[in-house]
Amino acid sequence: MPVLVSHPDEVKIISKRFGQGAADIDKYIELDGYKAVQKCIEQGPEWIIAEMKASGLRGRGGAGFPTGMKWSFIPKESAKPKYILVNGDESEPGTCKDHVIFLHDPHSVIEGTTIAGLATGAKMGFIYLRGEYRYLLKIVEKAVADAYAKGFLGKNIFGKEGVDFEIITQTGAGAYEVGEESALMESLEGKRGVPRIKPPFPAIVGLYGGPTVINNAETIASVPAIINYGGEAYAKVGSERNGGTRLFGISGMVEKPGIYELPMGYNLKKAIYEVAGGIKGGRALKAVVPGGSSCPVLLPDEIDVGLDFDQMAKAGTMLGSGGIVVLDETVSIVEFALRTIKFYQHESCGWCIPCREGTDWLKKTLTRFYDGGGNKKDIANIQYLAENMMGRTFCPLGDAAAMPTLGFIKKFRHEFEAYLEGHRTEKHFITTDELIGAGH
Ligand SMILES: Cc1cc2nc3c(=O)[nH]c(=O)nc-3n(C[C@H](O)[C@H](O)[C@H](O)COP(=O)(O)O)c2cc1C
Repeated sequence: MPVLVSHPDEVKIISKRFGQGAADIDKYIELDGYKAVQKCIEQGPEWIIAEMKASGLRGRGGAGFPTGMKWSFIPKESAKPKYILVNGDESEPGTCKDHVIFLHDPHSVIEGTTIAGLATGAKMGFIYLRGEYRYLLKIVEKAVADAYAKGFLGKNIFGKEGVDFEIITQTGAGAYEVGEESALMESLEGKRGVPRIKPPFPAIVGLYGGPTVINNAETIASVPAIINYGGEAYAKVGSERNGGTRLFGISGMVEKPGIYELPMGYNLKKAIYEVAGGIKGGRALKAVVPGGSSCPVLLPDEIDVGLDFDQMAKAGTMLGSGGIVVLDETVSIVEFALRTIKFYQHESCGWCIPCREGTDWLKKTLTRFYDGGGNKKDIANIQYLAENMMGRTFCPLGDAAAMPTLGFIKKFRHEFEAYLEGHRTEKHFITTDELIGAGH
């Protein structure tokens, strides 16, 4: 089991039950669990949505869309059933926050899903787990079964006549693309996980053609806490237009990597140097990928910035999935760029040409470059390819591949040029081939 880390600057709202055995339903109840949902049954949908809007909660899946607003888009009347879909696909490199929620506090997801159902009139929710998290399924399935056994799920929940809510769990088959909301719906319907054209948006035509709310697992796990704290009080914990806290995963070359719950807007530099203990072995910082591998890289003099959606956008990058990857001076950016694009090429679902071909050509060019067969034109070509993928793909996977590539070229062009001259940073990362070769 991963070691739980801690720092005094943390504000433990969604991680407060971590390490306390709250996967057990009785423990969860003892620690204030299932109170929020009962309050919501009393108060009704409009009150819930007003609280969510007041909380300033923005989606933790990456795009930061305001959750209360998303829920308010679900039509009151619908000929087709409505659904709540919890996105636990979590496949963005550098990201493992939903994992700890499912492991330590699965009932917060069940309670949050039920509250989303009460707010929107949906009677059914799905919890979709990443294929590689299959071992977590047992924990989540047990939590769902225990909630049914207590009468917290099913018909007439909490003894309230006519208040019904069902939850079904599902896993993916190990594809990054099915984290994209429309591909997730395709996958859940038993089809190949490729994106749908939008519009229509899921709030109108979603799962099985019914109005659907899709939220990230951390977004949903934040909901019971918001109801318990009160929307306004929760909003105040964070920064302007960015309510509450977030689970930040700080990984890479830091002394104390881990998942830390920090207020939105917390300073990135402080997060690295104080919360995560600074750069490993006292080495110099080279770069920071601030929110999962699709976010453009930041240089050491750019990290004095608040960790929220708006401040990160202003800094020319994104908060994304909250996965902060710290690179020290020994890292080869050429190699890191290749590792990043290898992931996106492998995970491109192939549905649209700019993504399928674009990621493949980027990988081919970067591989040749890395292997010593590059020339100056390659740098311009990589930039041209990435620029031409931007905004031209069915879903944002193409952008997710292009944005970091452009960032590396823009901020480390000198390193790509020096690489051609034979000046290479120490090779740092172990490739998958080497890992397999080493017998691990
Ligand atoms: C290629 C791709 C992969 C994605 N993977 C995930 C994921 O693993 N988990 C997630 O919550 N959102 C993921 N998203 C974002 C979802 O499409 C969607 O915006 C999110 O689930 C909405 O939830 P939120 O509003 O709570 O953030 C991904 C998007 C793309 C384009």
